[in-house]
Amino acid sequence: MSPFLVTRTLPEDATEAALRADVLHGLTRTPKTLPPKWFYDAHGSELFDQITELDEYYPTRAEREILVARAGEIAAVTGARTLVELGSGSSEKTRYLLDALSELETYVPVDVSESALRLAGEALIAERPRLGVHALIADFTGGLALPGTPGPRLVAFLGGTIGNLLPAERATFLSSVRSLLSPGDALLLGTDLVKAESVLVPAYDDAAGVTAAFNKNVLTVVNRELGADFEPDAFEHVALWDSDNEWIEMRLRSLAEQTVKIPALDLAVDFAVGEELRTEVSAKFRKEGVGEELSAAGLEPVRWWTDRAGRFALSLSVAH
Ligand code: SAH
Ligand code: TRP
Repeated sequence: MSPFLVTRTLPEDATEAALRADVLHGLTRTPKTLPPKWFYDAHGSELFDQITELDEYYPTRAEREILVARAGEIAAVTGARTLVELGSGSSEKTRYLLDALSELETYVPVDVSESALRLAGEALIAERPRLGVHALIADFTGGLALPGTPGPRLVAFLGGTIGNLLPAERATFLSSVRSLLSPGDALLLGTDLVKAESVLVPAYDDAAGVTAAFNKNVLTVVNRELGADFEPDAFEHVALWDSDNEWIEMRLRSLAEQTVKIPALDLAVDFAVGEELRTEVSAKFRKEGVGEELSAAGLEPVRWWTDRAGRFALSLSVAH
C-alpha cells in the first residue's frame, strides 16, 4: 500500500488569524467584501460538489468533456511523474489525468479544505494502491512549498478557479506558479470563457438555490469561527454579470437594516437595507487574454482546447 500523507502548511491558529484579519479588513471598508477561500469548510465543499451537478452549472461538464478527449495528449506532451493539483476539491475530474499519466508516481492535491482533501485522498488510495498521494493543506496564493517528488511535474489548476482571483492577484499567482516549475514542467489551466449572460447568470444563481446556500455559507463560517451572529436568511444571494470586467460577481444583499456583532473582533457591523457584501468574482476569459497572462508570467502556451460547444477551455503551458 502506498502512503497517504497529509501535510499542513496552514496551522489552525494561522488560519484563524487570517480569517480574523480578512473579516476585519473586509467588513470595515466600503463596499464590504469577504474573500472567497472562506466558503470552503466541510459544508461549503459539500455544497460546491452539489453545484457541479446542477443543470445550470455547465463548467464542470464542459471541462470533463475536454479532459476525456485530451488526457492522452496531456500525458504524451508532459510525461509527468508528479501531478500537483491546486484547489483540488473532490479530485473527481482529476481521475482522467491519473488514468492517462502512465509515468505518474505521486499526486499532490493542494487545498484549504482539509475535509475535501481527506475524502478525496482516502478514496484515491483505495482505488489506486500504487499511487503515492501527498495531500497539502495550504493556501495556493500564499507561497507554496512542494514536496521534493521527481519531475517532470504537471501543475493542474482546474474548475475555472483562477477566475476567482482578481487580475492583479492572478498575475502574482501565475508568477508564483512559474517559480515552482523547472524546465520541462507544465501548467494545465482551466478557464471558463465569455458567453451569453443568459447562460452565465443561471450558472451562479440556480433554480434550486444551491448556489445561494453556498454563498451564504461564508456567513455561517464567520459565525462559527468568530462567534458572529449573522442571520443568513436576512441576506439574499445576488449574481450579476459585469460586462466591463467580464466577470460574474456574487454578493449578499442585506434584506433589512441590521447590526451584526462579531465578538472575536470586538466589532459591530451595520448593514443598510439593500446594502451588498461582495463575496466572489468568477472571471470569464478569452483565448487571447489567457495567452497574454501566461506569457507575462513567463509561461509558454503550447495547447488550447475547448469543449465542442466552446464554453470552457483547458490550456497547457510549459516552463523553459
Ligand atoms: N478543482 C475542483 C474544485 C474547484 S472549487 C473542480 O474543478 O471541481 C475551488 C477549490 O479550491 C475548493 O476545493 C476550495 O477549497 C479550493 N480553494 C479555494 N481557495 C483556495 C486557496 N486560496 N488555497 C487553496 N485552495 C483553495
Ligand atoms: N471556481 C468556481 C467558479 O467560479 C467557484 C464557484 C462556483 C462559486 N459557483 C460559485 C463561487 C458560487 C462562489 C459562489 O465557477
